[in-house]
Amino acid sequence: MFTQLTRLNADSILGLMAKFRADSHPGKVDLGVGVFRDLDGHTPILDCVRRAEQEVLAAQTTKSYVAAAGREEFNSSVEALVLGADHAARRDRRARTVQAPGGCGALRVGAELIRAAASSVTVHVSDPTWGNHMPLLGSSGLKLERYPYYDAPSHQLRFEAMLERLERVSAGDVVLIHACCHNPTGADLSLSQWETLAALLERRRLLPFLDMAYQGFGAGLEADAAGIRLVAARVPEALIAVSFSKNLGLYRERVGALICIGENEDRANAMLSHVLQIARGIYSMPPDHGAAIAAHIFATAALKDDWIRELDGVRNRIADMRNLLAEQLRLATGDKTFDFIRSQRGMFSLLGVSSAAVDRLREQHHIYMLGDSRMNLAGIMPHNAAYVAQAVAETIALERAA
Ligand SMILES: Cc1ncc(COP(=O)(O)O)c(C=O)c1O
Repeated sequence: MFTQLTRLNADSILGLMAKFRADSHPGKVDLGVGVFRDLDGHTPILDCVRRAEQEVLAAQTTKSYVAAAGREEFNSSVEALVLGADHAARRDRRARTVQAPGGCGALRVGAELIRAAASSVTVHVSDPTWGNHMPLLGSSGLKLERYPYYDAPSHQLRFEAMLERLERVSAGDVVLIHACCHNPTGADLSLSQWETLAALLERRRLLPFLDMAYQGFGAGLEADAAGIRLVAARVPEALIAVSFSKNLGLYRERVGALICIGENEDRANAMLSHVLQIARGIYSMPPDHGAAIAAHIFATAALKDDWIRELDGVRNRIADMRNLLAEQLRLATGDKTFDFIRSQRGMFSLLGVSSAAVDRLREQHHIYMLGDSRMNLAGIMPHNAAYVAQAVAETIALERAA
């Protein structure tokens, strides 16, 4: 059977990681992989996670199954964290949350739920979007299209073009929206833009599928959720995929959740029943270990306070590196072209250079970023910012001269 399969090319991020590992240059810089790094270049285990993990293990008496929806206390804390404890959808008992294997698991289960309900709808994703959105949503068989979101060469959000497109899509279609810290652009909507978008989604009867993978990385846990809370308060139905890979640093433990908001309690229960059946047919039950740690942190005031403090540290480190790189780029180029890096949010920004420039930065300067020029700002360190800025300035000067 399998003699018919031809070998596929390695995923582009994995291919880039392999090239980085094979590069023996001592000054090489990794701006490719999408994980947080501290000033030592390490992706740390948060202190609150270490402590919670020990307490969870000490209290655990069985490894028996939990439940198809995962831990109830985890699900209810996640709902409160993302929507706010007093959100109208919770008050009206229209929200149902199930634990999922990471944000990816939540996105895939959400896509299957959409397909079960309305197999012919189109999912509209931002142009550009995170590389894994297309395979995650497309594998469920849904049609995908792109709406304009950001223009990399001019570093501008394309909000008017986005609205224009969403005015023309079919009623009942799905719009995938990054909740905060847009990946790969770092360009987020302002609150007044969120309001405009929410009104359009409601009026045009479009289903928002909100992807929350970086809560706390932009402006704080509450502020980062403001946009999606506003949407969820306005529309009758919504899906929210939540990931704790980044904000709890629990990447490999696969901690996520899918929040389903229905038109009323009955509809929400029906959505939940389908989600559980879908999950049963893919992975049966979500992994427990990471969710047990997260739930313990959410429920224990001292651990939660520590988490918020540690998350502040993560956010400040990224903001510092954004400022540092923007300042070094000003010095190296003599202009303000790259000042946009300062005000964008989350770990990523698009440098906005050609793929030939990306190749040149890698081959000549040992600086690794994705082909679309996505940089992970957590790969910038005080000791390499000037080097990166100088290399970028040289590369764009060469391009302009050619
Ligand atoms: C935009 C976005 N959504 C979702 C995810 C899901 O992450 P995970 O499945 O690791 O929780 C990521 C991770 O990089 C992401 O960047």
